Amino acid sequence: MTQRSHWGSKLGFLMAAIGSAVGLGNIWRFGYMAYENGGGAFLVPYSVALVLAGIPLMILEYALGHREEGAPPLAFSRVAKKWEVIGWWMPTIAFFGINLFYAVVIGWCMNYFIFSFSQAWGADTGSFFMSHFLQISDGVFQLGGIRWPILFGTLLTWAICWAICYREINQGIEKASMIFMPLLVVLTLILVGWSLRLPGALEAVLKHYLSPDWARINPFSSGGSKVWVAAFGQIFFTLSLGFGIMITYASYLPRKTDIVGNALITSVLNCLYSFIAGFAVFGTIGFMALRKGVPFAEAIKSGPGLAFVVYPEAINQLPAGKTIFGLLFFLVLIMAGLSSAISLVEAFCSSLIDKFGFPRGRTVTVVCLVGALGSVVFTTRAGLYILDIVDHFVNNYGLLTGGIAECVLVGWVLRAAVAREHVNRVGTLKLPVFWDFLIKYGTPLLLCLVVGFALVNECSSCYGGYPASALLLVGVGWLFAALLLAVILSRRWGRGAGWNEGAK
Ligand code: ALA
Repeated sequence: MTQRSHWGSKLGFLMAAIGSAVGLGNIWRFGYMAYENGGGAFLVPYSVALVLAGIPLMILEYALGHREEGAPPLAFSRVAKKWEVIGWWMPTIAFFGINLFYAVVIGWCMNYFIFSFSQAWGADTGSFFMSHFLQISDGVFQLGGIRWPILFGTLLTWAICWAICYREINQGIEKASMIFMPLLVVLTLILVGWSLRLPGALEAVLKHYLSPDWARINPFSSGGSKVWVAAFGQIFFTLSLGFGIMITYASYLPRKTDIVGNALITSVLNCLYSFIAGFAVFGTIGFMALRKGVPFAEAIKSGPGLAFVVYPEAINQLPAGKTIFGLLFFLVLIMAGLSSAISLVEAFCSSLIDKFGFPRGRTVTVVCLVGALGSVVFTTRAGLYILDIVDHFVNNYGLLTGGIAECVLVGWVLRAAVAREHVNRVGTLKLPVFWDFLIKYGTPLLLCLVVGFALVNECSSCYGGYPASALLLVGVGWLFAALLLAVILSRRWGRGAGWNEGAK
């Protein structure tokens, strides 16, 4: 029996939780999501999603993990045995559906970190990224071989995740987050300050980022529901909700702990970080539009490549300090990415340790090896397409259904009032009764509506212009594979239910 790990300090927990939330999603993903979904128009549903789903669910996940003292499978099964499979769904979908490509994007950043020394991306950063770096193939099914520099960066990412997660939580993840997070904030503020000084940047921010186009956010207008679906998906991704991470992290907290305060700090600081980082993204695109003499909306082809095209282009324009600035920017992305990647690894490993009582070191080693192997498909020349499809399905369906399930579990099976009483007993900041209403009705209904909209959109046009066969095989197939694995892991193995009760 292994003893359950604990955070060394409350600050350490907060840093790790914020570190998990603040990641590539805040800079890389938020940037292209906001750009594709109308800039300022995106911020409105994003804020609604934060208040009506993000914060209530953050409190829920902390409360569940803390009360049941387990990663999701154990926590869910302690509430109701039959729910264990849903408890596995979260870390499984997060690990296989997100962690695998996440490590590859950090691998891209590592390559770009090296490119920064000589601005190897040249004058046309768009075609450098697509044709030279990714050597993108002609379609999803044309894998076209492995891109070795990307594989190398990806393996390095997995090695770092392994080295950090191998140690106990207070020695590994906590210490790494205490270094990564403060550094990240300072570097980001420098980046934003500099971006806003570029010609055309401030105007673009004011016009396209800070002024919402109300017509675009009517969910019943053409394309309007897509903006809402994207905003809810982004809130789940950015707050690491539905991944099982926050449940796992809260399970390492001491008995007396301020769940509401911690949830508010994590959620608000994370979204504030994205909002501020958005100034840099929109400012830089505005600058590019001005320089190219094209309208803002046409300045750049968007998508997951945005950060790797926009920033190098902006760095090219610097009168001096190109190298140092490039290094700083990609270091920001690498650090933000790593502090989230380790949390994804931890949630899955902790679930396995809870259930099977495996030693931490060996579990982390095997999980990282499996992860590295699984990432290889994203390092092929079709990797960007596969990433885009998997990300779309995992976010819009995988994470959101996990969110609905945990609302039902806590709201109805455990009962929201019981969870609320727990939160109010262990912490100082009290949770109002209104939270019960949100968890039982408001949030799950809203999430069902969003998933419904996503399904309608799915049926009316093929996402991203990909062939339907690719979406079915890669996107839907990925979700089913994760579900199958969750079912297998939730079975009784060897020693009965096998829970590592010593972990409590
Ligand atoms: N929450 C993490 C991010 O935003 C996964 O990147």
